[in-house]
Amino acid sequence: MASKLWEKSVTVNSDVEVYTVGLDREMDMYLARYDVLGSLAHIAMLESIGLLTSDELKVLSEELRAIYDVIEEGKFCIEDDVEDVHSQVELMLTRRLGDIGKKIHSGRSRNDQVLVDLKLFIRSRIEDVITAITGLFKALISQSDRYKDVLMPGYTHLQVAMPSSFGLWFGAYAESLVDDLTVLKAAYTVTNRNPLGSAAGYGSSFPLDRDMTTRLLGFDSMDYNVVYAQMGRGKVERIVAQALASVASTVSKLAFDACMFNSQNFGFIKLPDQYTTGSSIMPHKKNPDVFELTRAKCNKIQALPYEITLITNNLPSGYFRDLQLVKENFLPAFDSLIDILVMVTRMVSEVSVNESILDDPRYRLMFSVEEVNRLTLAGMPFRDAYKKVGLDIEKGEFEPDYTLKHTHAGSIGNLCNDRIVGLYDDLLASFDFDKFHVAFSRLLGKE
Ligand code: ARG
Repeated sequence: MASKLWEKSVTVNSDVEVYTVGLDREMDMYLARYDVLGSLAHIAMLESIGLLTSDELKVLSEELRAIYDVIEEGKFCIEDDVEDVHSQVELMLTRRLGDIGKKIHSGRSRNDQVLVDLKLFIRSRIEDVITAITGLFKALISQSDRYKDVLMPGYTHLQVAMPSSFGLWFGAYAESLVDDLTVLKAAYTVTNRNPLGSAAGYGSSFPLDRDMTTRLLGFDSMDYNVVYAQMGRGKVERIVAQALASVASTVSKLAFDACMFNSQNFGFIKLPDQYTTGSSIMPHKKNPDVFELTRAKCNKIQALPYEITLITNNLPSGYFRDLQLVKENFLPAFDSLIDILVMVTRMVSEVSVNESILDDPRYRLMFSVEEVNRLTLAGMPFRDAYKKVGLDIEKGEFEPDYTLKHTHAGSIGNLCNDRIVGLYDDLLASFDFDKFHVAFSRLLGKE
């Protein structure tokens, strides 16, 4: 039986072990490959400061790369009596290499190991989330361009208000994603700093070369102050969760619109049949369950920053085991958001719109402001024009003119989609994902 890394003369009670490890083995599987990458950087640094020989570095690197391949092949597992991924990797090394394997933990603690693992994981997953967001962004812009001339009612207070268009509706959600990407960029910047070398949260008396591990892992800079590096645990996850929540709030609003506009009372859009579900009793039903679940899944993601806040709230500085539980809520959220984005992208691409919705006379009055503006342009003061149209409506004498002339930036006739795409592309280019891809390839000896 493999003992704990920290076990000395007293053996741990098994109930206590179950209680303290909990779901951590499952959670650490998300982090396994990043744990190996962190160790590859750490040992290269240890060699540079004389704590490993170059032969030891070579042997250890080869073995760690072999473990990385096992992880990639899906064959890695954390054994039942091994506490976590950090212990498992060290155990595999010592089984294969004996004493050399026992040397890699010099100048390090599992506290900074898990910190660095989380940051490497988050960087990669933000890239995946952004790929999925980009798919949705493109689908929205393309639908906006396609339906730029098709009008639909706009609402305030859920009361018919003014003419809008499907071009505006789809494009609005595309632009919302631009702002979400801005928030994600901030989260990425916070993430992209190296905590490795902070050890248990107070540094080390070894002359660790933290600039070197920062470079080797492709970080932009480091969390300099070792106490702050440890304080980042929970904080980074919360900031990233806020960015994921921002994306989720865009998508959940879209999902609500889609459910509402698809209902018979609106009839603005029609969801493809294969994306609707039936009722066990009412044979005519085609329910928008996909968007309903999207809404609820997005709401769960919006709860995440609050969950993390509550798990970590009021902790003083320094490491606490409480932080382990953040992983259970945080790590699976990326897959959940990506699934949502992929499904919603398909829905948005395939939804059809009702091109003649304004033939319905119930929307006549939303042209009232157009008439007021026409009278104003013809010289009548706005307030008088407003009153005249209001009285005409009351007397049942209002005749709408359905021709629209909206030309200002961002309006029905001038969506500015090209400028929205420009903003998106500039933001996208500001994420330098290649930097960490190149760093990872070098650590894995692939370049
Ligand atoms: N599983 C632990 C976590 O996620 C790893 C760090 C353990 N450190 C300790 N001092 N017990 O936080």
